[in-house]
Amino acid sequence: MITRLLQDTEQDFAIAAQLIREGELVAFPTETVYGLGADARREDAVRAIFTAKGRPADNPLIVHISDLSMLDSIAADVPSIALRLAEKFWAGPLTMIFPKRPEIPYVTSGGLETVGIRMPSHPMAQKLISLSGCPIAAPSANRSGLPSPTTAKHVMDDMNGRISAVLDGGQCSVGVESTVVCFDDTQTIHILRPGLVSREDLLPYAKTVYVDKAVFEQTAPDVKVASPGMKYKHYSPKAKILPVDAPDFGTFADYVRQHQKAGVWCLLFDSDPEIDAVPCLHYGDDGIQQAHDLFFRFRELDEQGAETVYVRMPEQSGADLSVYNRLMRAAGFEVIRL
Ligand code: TXA
Ligand code: MG
Repeated sequence: MITRLLQDTEQDFAIAAQLIREGELVAFPTETVYGLGADARREDAVRAIFTAKGRPADNPLIVHISDLSMLDSIAADVPSIALRLAEKFWAGPLTMIFPKRPEIPYVTSGGLETVGIRMPSHPMAQKLISLSGCPIAAPSANRSGLPSPTTAKHVMDDMNGRISAVLDGGQCSVGVESTVVCFDDTQTIHILRPGLVSREDLLPYAKTVYVDKAVFEQTAPDVKVASPGMKYKHYSPKAKILPVDAPDFGTFADYVRQHQKAGVWCLLFDSDPEIDAVPCLHYGDDGIQQAHDLFFRFRELDEQGAETVYVRMPEQSGADLSVYNRLMRAAGFEVIRL
């Protein structure tokens, strides 16, 4: 199969929407990461997503909409708390889980009775959904287990020859995937996956907002988790990622110097100085910048041939928690504590 690289033109959008209507796979930019899209209502098309990614069949897909009017045809029950969140955070990087309507097949929901729904804010994503005339199921457009793609080139690196087309929208502004929430009751928001919409952002909307423990620790393979995607090792480059929890930069730098050898790299904050002869990349100084850069740097480290990467630890509050979670999962939740 030849994968077409499509641009932001009327002609290319017509092609992309036609492909979706025909049950083909089209990768497209969202504000978070690139998604690998297909008509969410078509079993054959959605099955092809799982094949192209090498994704386990029990890991449900997020369904993307471009207008609130699309919600009622796919979600069976939308609590008022969800409508208040939609008003504030849609279009944007928030996915909400609802009981699904039969229109969404079990292939899409990974066998669950629920469906995750998101309205992306990226104009190219919105345009593709509305021109296609259907809700679009889209996981991140990487091969399963690799870092999510934040440029069309990343998608091509993973998916060339496996999908019909990629719409090129440049680099994604957010850089990590959406916040995924469900509602345990009408007053409780349960964060399954942290993203740019933080616990602190959600607090005014509920009595309780809590973060699932799978965000902080590895779940045993036989344990049932609320969000199936959280049980898989994820987001990892080929290089071994080693987060280092050091009290300050000096302690971090001393540790890296002691362990320096060929293939050792480090991933530093923007404000950190370089460490003598140790090759390094930088990934921002706050959660927003780190989220923007993290997956891009993972892919760069692989291109540079890095084998072991010592990484400065992000914070665990606000949007930073999303970076912490992706880093910990890339590291299999192993941390070097100094
Ligand atoms: O930002 C994003 O969310 C991107 C862009 C493309 O929209 N999409 C994305 O999809 O990250 P994916 O498939 O890579 O991650 C979806 C996550 C998984 O952890 C999955 O288990 C969880 O959402 N999820 C989806 N539907 C669910 C459901 N019904 N119940 C629980 N978790 C669900
Ligand atoms: Mg993914």
